Amino acid sequence: MNFGVIGYGYWGPNVVRNLASLECSQVIAIAEMSPAARKRAQKAYPGIHITPDAADVISSAKIDAIAVITPVWTHYELAKAALENGKHVFVEKPFTSNVEQGEELINLAQRRNLKIMVDHTFLFTGAVKKIWQLLDEGTLGKLYYYDSTRVNLGLFQHDINVLWDLAPHDLSIMDYLIRASPEAIVATGQKHLNGYEDVAFMTLYFPEKIIAHINVNWLSPVKVRTTLIGGERRMLVWNDLEADEKVKVYDKGVKITNREGVYELLVNYRTGDMWAPQLEQVEALRQELSYFVECISNGREPFNDGCAGLRVIKMLEAASESLSKRGTLVYL
Ligand SMILES: NC(=O)c1ccc[n+]([C@@H]2O[C@H](COP(=O)([O-])OP(=O)(O)OC[C@H]3O[C@@H](n4cnc5c(N)ncnc54)[C@H](O)[C@@H]3O)[C@@H](O)[C@H]2O)c1
Repeated sequence: MNFGVIGYGYWGPNVVRNLASLECSQVIAIAEMSPAARKRAQKAYPGIHITPDAADVISSAKIDAIAVITPVWTHYELAKAALENGKHVFVEKPFTSNVEQGEELINLAQRRNLKIMVDHTFLFTGAVKKIWQLLDEGTLGKLYYYDSTRVNLGLFQHDINVLWDLAPHDLSIMDYLIRASPEAIVATGQKHLNGYEDVAFMTLYFPEKIIAHINVNWLSPVKVRTTLIGGERRMLVWNDLEADEKVKVYDKGVKITNREGVYELLVNYRTGDMWAPQLEQVEALRQELSYFVECISNGREPFNDGCAGLRVIKMLEAASESLSKRGTLVYL
């Protein structure tokens, strides 16, 4: 499958490297506006056509699919042009800048019988696959909460706030693991430096009393990537910065019983073993791109399609509304 890639900034080189090394795909053109980035691309891939003009790549008859690896405000225009030219689209998270744009792209792709995949890379990591399996098998029992901390110093974005930059990772993971949409969202945050919120907190109320919380911050002195997931039977800690044993499952829980007639609550704490399940060691982006090519070849809809991207945008829009009203509860 022949790919054209638009955007060779920070993330673009990873997409090009993986597409170029997969057996089922090759990159035949890269569009990049920055001369310095074009120079880097030319040096790394002398055999690939490199151009400043995205339209060159989008209109090429030799290209089957376009990867859009540019800032979010450009996703809609570039993806729309690609679909109108009959190309399948792999587009970065967050899918679009608003719900209307996402809906339009999904409709366009459906009418043209083309695939959209939104890069929710974490869904292809060994850790998220294992957590999905633990939930599916009932190892954790009924889910109580998802609580994620995703903080570090920078990288400051110039077009979006920290929620739109970092929260899509957790929102896509929650969407995949919880398999339900939130009923209401509260978000709070503050702008300190460049006019966009650089510290933000988001709470999501899901059906069946599942609650989720995300802490995202560009002003943290240390990098933290830790998620706690608690269930009725067991709980787990996922520390994505650990080299080994990223996921630890704790056989801990609480049981509350009411002593008959005495109206007294009895709280039993249960502490058992902790274990670290074996995780698949693969580059998530490589698996994801290979799956995209497979979906196109077999005419299958990827699970991280435009609709999955749109669900994340709906959560981000509700969070933005709540944020602008200092944490008012917004129903979806
Ligand atoms: N999936 C992930 O884990 C992950 C990680 C990082 C970034 N991202 C996403 O990737 C996207 C890009 O992020 P980045 O950090 O690489 O940004 P970046 O600013 O480093 O790179 C974007 C590049 O796109 C180029 N560009 C913009 N518009 C263009 C156009 N019309 N034609 C040609 N080139 C154009 C810019 O010159 C720039 O070099 C964002 O949506 C971001 O959220 C995803």
